[in-house]
Amino acid sequence: MTNIDWAALRSAAHEAATFAYVPYSKFRVGAAGLTSDGRIVTGCNVENASYGLTLCAECGMISELARTGGGRLVAVCTVGNGAPVTPCGRCRQLLWEHGGPDMLIEVEGAPRRMSEMIPHAFPEASNFTQPNK
Ligand code: THU
Repeated sequence: MTNIDWAALRSAAHEAATFAYVPYSKFRVGAAGLTSDGRIVTGCNVENASYGLTLCAECGMISELARTGGGRLVAVCTVGNGAPVTPCGRCRQLLWEHGGPDMLIEVEGAPRRMSEMIPHAFPEASNFTQPNK
């Protein structure tokens, strides 16, 4: 898939952010991912009183990816309180597992490859498991 509608992804991320549960940080994050079969999956952050158990928006998005049939992520966009957000380290590892080195991620308005965002990632190989369908 070569044509990525970044505007549509951004808009899906903004919409997802409206569902965020953020009583502690008040930072509403939404993530949207395009799958290799053309779906758009989204997620929002869900905080917790124990702070450290907070689920990032990307976690919710990966969950939705699995729930809606799995497959590979091709491109991801994350926004927070209306502006672009670069996914945290843990989420980059999560994204790596489902997108691999060539997945694109919007960083400060420009697409970058995952191999650039998490160099020398664990595991190095990109022949990850496919959906269990
Ligand atoms: N957050 C995300 O949802 N995704 C990221 O990539 C970075 C941080 C959330 C976690 C927490 O609810 C809030 O942003 C403030 O850190």
